[in-house]
Amino acid sequence: MNLKRITAVYKDIFDGESKNLLTVSAPGRINLIGEHTDYNGGFVLPIAIDRNIYMAGEKRNDRIIRVYSIDYDQNVQFDLDSIQFNKEKIWVNYVAGVIKSLLETSADINGADIVFGGDIPEGAGLSSSAALEVATVYFFKILFDLEISSIEMIKLCQKAENKFVGVNCGIMDQFVSMLGEKDHALFLDCRNLSYENIPLKLGEFNVVVCNTNVKRELAGSEYNKRRATCERAVSSLKRSLPQIETLRDVSMKEFEKYKGSLDEITQKRCKHVLYENKRVLDAIKALGRNDILEFGRLMNESHESLKKNYEVSCLELDTMVNIARSINGVIGARMTGGGFGGCTVNIVKKKNINNFRSLISREYEKRTRIKPQIYICNPENGSRRL
Ligand code: GLA
Repeated sequence: MNLKRITAVYKDIFDGESKNLLTVSAPGRINLIGEHTDYNGGFVLPIAIDRNIYMAGEKRNDRIIRVYSIDYDQNVQFDLDSIQFNKEKIWVNYVAGVIKSLLETSADINGADIVFGGDIPEGAGLSSSAALEVATVYFFKILFDLEISSIEMIKLCQKAENKFVGVNCGIMDQFVSMLGEKDHALFLDCRNLSYENIPLKLGEFNVVVCNTNVKRELAGSEYNKRRATCERAVSSLKRSLPQIETLRDVSMKEFEKYKGSLDEITQKRCKHVLYENKRVLDAIKALGRNDILEFGRLMNESHESLKKNYEVSCLELDTMVNIARSINGVIGARMTGGGFGGCTVNIVKKKNINNFRSLISREYEKRTRIKPQIYICNPENGSRRL
């Protein structure tokens, strides 16, 4: 997908002159470390990647939205004044949800003709849905010259996913898709949304992503369950620690003192969140002193905790991680994103990447009978006008 292709498709579908065609893109993401911490007010360290949703379109003079998905080869039309959840064409809900949230802010928008497509594999945990939301809000901001800040747009996308699509996601994916920076990782404090773009200097190493090609079927329901467990834990800990709002506000010491009021599973979930936050801070310190080995070690630890304490890994993710760790030149391997399938993120010595590629492909397919995909990922910029 590129500018030329999307422009051509637009002309084809809408028979448009496309003189005023607006084109934008928004990327997918990989989270390096800090998993299931965002909705607990914690820390995350994702990068935007060079896989995007591309969106093109122009204004209409009425209240109709016509939107065409290139990848699904499907058209949907709806009215701005009666936006409903679409049970058949789920993809359109990410677009419609964002538009609905925009209207709720009294944004002065009208109808539009839109086409979009992309190269972020769907269901792979690379946040293709957040990218679609971010592309949509950014597209409308420019098209209708809206006065809305990046943070407001990010929150609006999250709201669309929480309230309209029904997944109680945190804010990480939308944040990095909007504000990621080339060659940098984005260190975000989800409690107050302060952030810093940190140079990702990996020296002789590269970030390599492996797609298990197991779709994240359980992701929605189990994800919402994990979030609810964390919220219940906060309510319960609040009896002894009335000042806390999220698990982020609980210190390790306080947790050790009061964890007895929580059942065993809830304790494990909290333990993951608390220690994962610390791992993010340690990982940033390690990056600062170019200690990539330590960075990799923390990633490994993160995976173990996601597997044993948070229980969001799966056989295929664990298999992929185990194979990776047995290969020369790999210093860190973990699942990334919500879990239950999707991708792993690995730190691999550049000179070993070819070998890594062939060994992962061969071994993973041998053990699971599924063909994996392997991508080399460099941090890219967030949403932009093309
Ligand atoms: C999904 C969600 C994010 C985040 C991760 C887990 O990607 O969309 O908000 O919670 O899972 O870290």
